[in-house]
Amino acid sequence: MMYLLCFVLLLIGAAPIAARPTGSSYLSGTGRFWHITDLHLDPTYHLAPDPTKVCFSSKGVPAPHAGMFGDFLCDSPYRLIQSAFAHMAPLTQPEDFIIWTGDSPPHVPPDELTTDMVIQVISNMTQTIRQYFPNMTVYPALGNHDYWPQDQMPTSTNAIYKAAAQLWKLWLEPDALLTLSQGGFYSQRVKPGLRVISLNTILYYGPDKVTCNMTDPAGQYEWLEKTLEKAAQSQEKVYIIAHVPVGYLPFVRNTTAIRRSHNERLVAICRKYSHVIAGHFYGHTHRDSIMVLLDQQGKPVNSLFVSPAVTPIKHVLEPYSNNPALRMYLYNAEDYTLQVKFDRLVYQLNQCRHLLFLQSCWLLMRFGVEDASYADAVARKVEERLPMKNNVKAMDRNVHIWQLVQDNMLFFFCVEKYKE
Ligand SMILES: *[C@@H]1O[C@H](CO)[C@@H](O)[C@H](O)[C@H]1NC(C)=O
Ligand SMILES: *[C@@H]1O[C@H](CO)[C@@H](O)[C@H](O)[C@H]1NC(C)=O
Ligand SMILES: *[C@@H]1O[C@H](CO)[C@@H](O)[C@H](O)[C@H]1NC(C)=O
Ligand SMILES: *[C@@H]1O[C@H](CO)[C@@H](O)[C@H](O)[C@H]1NC(C)=O
Repeated sequence: MMYLLCFVLLLIGAAPIAARPTGSSYLSGTGRFWHITDLHLDPTYHLAPDPTKVCFSSKGVPAPHAGMFGDFLCDSPYRLIQSAFAHMAPLTQPEDFIIWTGDSPPHVPPDELTTDMVIQVISNMTQTIRQYFPNMTVYPALGNHDYWPQDQMPTSTNAIYKAAAQLWKLWLEPDALLTLSQGGFYSQRVKPGLRVISLNTILYYGPDKVTCNMTDPAGQYEWLEKTLEKAAQSQEKVYIIAHVPVGYLPFVRNTTAIRRSHNERLVAICRKYSHVIAGHFYGHTHRDSIMVLLDQQGKPVNSLFVSPAVTPIKHVLEPYSNNPALRMYLYNAEDYTLQVKFDRLVYQLNQCRHLLFLQSCWLLMRFGVEDASYADAVARKVEERLPMKNNVKAMDRNVHIWQLVQDNMLFFFCVEKYKE
């Protein structure tokens, strides 16, 4: 769905290196977790002699260079997803956990799917993740494609919320499963002092016709405030995870990812509890990006991370691709603040361009700034590098930074470096 041009960007201080991390290279006192999102399995993907028949998700557009591991015009073949997990698995440690922010089914017209097919794909992805990470807890969130018809998430229990609660019994506790089966959201303690809140932001998503006139669909805002208040009282830190991000889209000016009124309310809650929230993690845009939430005085208070997708799909007219990626975050094990360094595995096509999806080629890219307070560091660096009047600035041949100050609330910039 993300078919407009996005400027490719470099994260502050980014240093891509091809290196394999080993468990021992991380400092003690540092925890880790992984973020996977937008897997978008296309079960129809196959190397057909007729290039228009490679995948339903190309919608008839020929994919003449399709490789075993995918194509830029198609959603993920199963093999690409397996290869992503196969590269990630040896890098995990027993105490790691995974956040998974949704969107398992392919981008195909609604009449090519059914509720059962959507449940099948979510079930397949759940089992596949379990197979590669049998001992790891996974905290999922539902995406706009994890419903049929897509985007139309209801405010009460239904076959899909129930199926998700059934499938995710593996990882979630009974009280989390209860709100999941009723409204598609939940909260769960990860370890002492750390809680994940998984929001169903599809309820606030513009295309969801069911909820467009509701002030608090499924009572999620009220629940969220209560949950954050309880976390504050229990001295817990919270990671917010969801599919559609709060804040702005990376490729259109002044457009929020969810409805503007719903965004305002969510931003207000996030500001009020920014001392409790230690990080935000989203998917959906297939664009590697970061937003910084500002308080009413314009001071940065929280960092919001949007992870790139596993699916490489792009529209035939879109100049930039998403290189399939997974991300690893490091956090301070005492207070759960994010350590500014984070790593990601990308399917890196600059290095192995000639192999273009013919062989799996995952590289570890390491990004980071040195400071402990991410938001502050980012804000400072952005100010250093970019006068406010410039919205776009070329950093080098194929790297740009796009920085916007929107409503004086959020800094936004998108981080993506590779071009097909
Ligand atoms: C998931 O789907 C893939 C591709 O259709 C299939 O090969 C695989 O067997 C399925 N796995 C499960 C656990 O359903
Ligand atoms: C998972 O845990 C079991 C039992 O503790 C252990 O035997 C197995 O090796 C673990 N698997 C992985 C992949 O860590
Ligand atoms: C929402 O409100 C508008 C304006 O009052 C109305 O036209 C529309 O039918 C309402 N939609 C729903 C789903 O209730
Ligand atoms: C962004 O859009 C909103 C509503 O459409 C408008 O009120 C606001 O002035 C716009 N802001 C900028 C900076 O263009």
